[in-house]
Amino acid sequence: MTDADQAAISLVEVSKTFGGPDGVHVLDKVCCEIADREFVSVLGPSGCGKSTLLRIIGGLIPWDEGDVSVVGERVDGPPDEAGIVFQTANLLPWRNVSANLTLGIEILKETDSDADKTLRDMVEMLALTGFEEAFPHELSGVCDSVLPSARPSCAIPASC
Ligand SMILES: Nc1ncnc2c1ncn2[C@@H]1O[C@H](COP(=O)(O)OP(=O)(O)OP(=O)(O)O)[C@@H](O)[C@H]1O
Ligand SMILES: [Mg+2]
Repeated sequence: MTDADQAAISLVEVSKTFGGPDGVHVLDKVCCEIADREFVSVLGPSGCGKSTLLRIIGGLIPWDEGDVSVVGERVDGPPDEAGIVFQTANLLPWRNVSANLTLGIEILKETDSDADKTLRDMVEMLALTGFEEAFPHELSGVCDSVLPSARPSCAIPASC
């Protein structure tokens, strides 16, 4: 990335401790710059703070020290144009496949003229065509675990 490029995600000396000063010190002055469309994996042993870092970037939890910005804006809550795939499926058992996929757009109260096509594309990508009306308990384990990965794409209008 050159100086002329703006980092899509920028972390400057980000620290986080859970449970006060004597608590669990999870992140210690983490620095990182991620460019637009750069694909980055965060690796480390269980409990080292990967999810904590992603939750901070996603504006879901506060950090203690340092700066976190997404597309030049200091993170202050979840940005509309960011989607998060959680570690666990978090599917709503009373909603079928289509209704689980469109939950985000419903919450955002967005109107997207391409929403039906986006939903069809996502269902096809997940190889769930024909299962649009199925409920989570009727899906195989793999279907159940891949479904959440498409949820953000259905929630973010094409205009974003
Ligand atoms: N809300 C919280 N309150 C207190 N401690 C927390 C909280 N969230 C996470 N922790 C602690 O912070 C540490 C890092 O947790 P985190 O979930 O970020 O780890 P991880 O690297 O994602 O692990 P895994 O690979 O198992 O998913 C762990 O010790 C965890 O117990
Ligand atoms: Mg984790």
